[in-house]
Amino acid sequence: MKTTTSIRPESVFLVSGGAKGITAKCVIELAQQYPCKFILLGRSSLLESEPLFAKNCFDEATLKKRIMEDLLKKGEKPTPIEVKKIYNQIISDREIKQTLEIIKQAGGEAEYINTDVTNTQDLQQKITAVTESMGTITGIIHGAGNLADKLIEKKTEEDFEKVYSAKIQGLKNLLGCVNLDQLEYLVLYSSVAGFYGNIGQSDYALANEILNKSAHLFKQQYPQCHVVAINWGGWDSGMVTPELKKEFARRGIEIIPVEAGAKMLVNELHDSYRDSTQVVIGSPISPLPTPLNSQLKTYRIHRKFTEAANPFLQDHIVGGKPVYLLLAQQHG
Ligand SMILES: NC(=O)c1ccc[n+]([C@@H]2O[C@H](COP(=O)([O-])OP(=O)(O)OC[C@H]3O[C@@H](n4cnc5c(N)ncnc54)[C@H](OP(=O)(O)O)[C@@H]3O)[C@@H](O)[C@H]2O)c1
Repeated sequence: MKTTTSIRPESVFLVSGGAKGITAKCVIELAQQYPCKFILLGRSSLLESEPLFAKNCFDEATLKKRIMEDLLKKGEKPTPIEVKKIYNQIISDREIKQTLEIIKQAGGEAEYINTDVTNTQDLQQKITAVTESMGTITGIIHGAGNLADKLIEKKTEEDFEKVYSAKIQGLKNLLGCVNLDQLEYLVLYSSVAGFYGNIGQSDYALANEILNKSAHLFKQQYPQCHVVAINWGGWDSGMVTPELKKEFARRGIEIIPVEAGAKMLVNELHDSYRDSTQVVIGSPISPLPTPLNSQLKTYRIHRKFTEAANPFLQDHIVGGKPVYLLLAQQHG
């Protein structure tokens, strides 16, 4: 049974991260069920044409060998980093072009825009130009995201920026490119990591939880818009590497099959779900129980406070004396 949505052939979806990964799989399914128009955004540039040596070569090892041979022929050093970079470019180019092609075959219209969603000006300029031919944007699907998994004490500012800004500055910038009163759909790709938390993903969890809260806030301000933050569990695709898949299996976390996940996205756009502003799709994340050490430990933590940097210390006063001074006297 096909339930109703407000999607029409002239609907225009602006989709960050929509040419690759799981967002591309969802957009393809959406186009197959509701052929309409899509503006797909990503930082990767497209190759004018694929190098001759890569034509019809789909095996990773063979393609890398050909890249090495080509570099040697040009008198360049085939370092593993350089080979991987060229390999990634070819694979990315193929994936983007394939997404565009399948959408067109399904009767939809799609354009790829090479831009970084955190670059406010570039995004605005390029979106203004493309909407002149495509028409008014009626839906946003914000799928752009990055990982920098490591324990919090090992994270750098750059790690945090990479993970946080694509999601949060990205959302702000995307919303800044559209007429919010005409927006019919706002779909945010969040994660179970935001809902449950996850080891090594403090930045990612934080950013996704902000997306969840942003969805609720937006729905309050624009109740006519169909808003949903999807807290996806791990998929069998996209940023889930074979190593991550093994880790999920070890922790008993089931992953979402690609076809099922893409169908769930389309399902979420049905009118009957227009008031489900935050949904969790996938297995919950729970930490593995770790054996407790019965030996008690004592920790002494030193931290130097100055009154000038912490004016709140003056707010907690007992018997006319700031409490922190009393405590300092007690503990020497
Ligand atoms: N895969 C999962 O299991 C899973 C689970 C939960 C949530 N999610 C969420 O789903 C979304 C898609 O994940 P995925 O697995 O498909 O990841 P992916 O394969 O790494 O794809 C990420 C996409 O985002 C784009 N992107 C990243 N930063 C960008 C930026 N600053 N500006 C423009 N585009 C940017 C990338 O394109 P370029 O590299 O060309 O920029 C790419 O198209 C993410 O938001 C992720 O948090 C995924």
